[in-house]
Amino acid sequence: MNKIKKVLIPCAGLGTRFLPSTKSLPKEMFPIIDKPNLQYIVEEATKSGINDIGIIVSEAKPIIVNHFSRDEKLEDLLLKANKQKEKELIEAIGSMAKITFIYQKEPLGLGHAILQGEEFINGEDFAIMLGDDLIINYDDPSLPALKQLVDAYDKTSSSILGVQEVPLSNVSKYGIVDIKDDVSPLMEVKKTIEKPSLEEAPSLYAVLGRYVLTNNIFSYLKKVKKGKNGEIGLTEAIDMLLKDNKVYAYRFEGKRYDIGSKAGYVEAFIDLALSRDDLKGEISQYIKSLKL
Ligand code: UTP
Repeated sequence: MNKIKKVLIPCAGLGTRFLPSTKSLPKEMFPIIDKPNLQYIVEEATKSGINDIGIIVSEAKPIIVNHFSRDEKLEDLLLKANKQKEKELIEAIGSMAKITFIYQKEPLGLGHAILQGEEFINGEDFAIMLGDDLIINYDDPSLPALKQLVDAYDKTSSSILGVQEVPLSNVSKYGIVDIKDDVSPLMEVKKTIEKPSLEEAPSLYAVLGRYVLTNNIFSYLKKVKKGKNGEIGLTEAIDMLLKDNKVYAYRFEGKRYDIGSKAGYVEAFIDLALSRDDLKGEISQYIKSLKL
């Protein structure tokens, strides 16, 4: 059994890159075929042995709370319509994990969102999964990205940042780590820089949506200087943390999709369709017919 028991999933951002859809529907709830992105993420947490989940939500978008709460009326209707299998599918969502909803009143940045979860975490070391980062380990579905990180934490008892290499042209979209030695997969981090310029980037390793952090991150988050619009960044707090503590980067296996970007969303849709027995034939035939 892993030592990490709790995860925070921040889902309270504005999602401005995906307006107007995100006006009423948080990007974390965008369906990837027949399941919202956030459900894939909750399932990744439970497959990683973490069942105590805090989802950070905004009051403006109650749809997340609705999705993960039991809906006995719908279950009843499905039963009456002789849809036993569908009823079980819906019922399972309400009981897949112990989910606590934590409210972020204003979208003041990822670091601020995490700070709202301090009481829920209650002094333990914990994991973070970004609600808009979907990661699928097609080669070994039993070893999702988060499980790889919590296993690394068990060996080091230190904070672990999930990383993968990105093209140089993309470094300024991410938090980039400066590592001591490139001894992938587990590498000690010297520094983290949020959205560096191409010249500033110390490596191509970007932090991609999965973290395990020691509990003292909360004290650094409280010290971070607010950025533009009063936002509190998580990367800045991690950079302060690693001055006094060992922090590692773990190069995880799995394909990562940024559901908050249009291209990332479309890629996830295509890949997941092609990975499913019920859709693979039809969709691959369709793609071939496009003669790109
Ligand atoms: P992003 O920076 O990708 O989300 O945050 P965003 O700000 O909503 O996106 P754009 O740039 O405007 O399109 C990563 C994750 O952190 C959450 C987001 O919901 C997303 O899952 N987040 C971000 C919060 O929960 N609260 C915040 O204040 C900011």
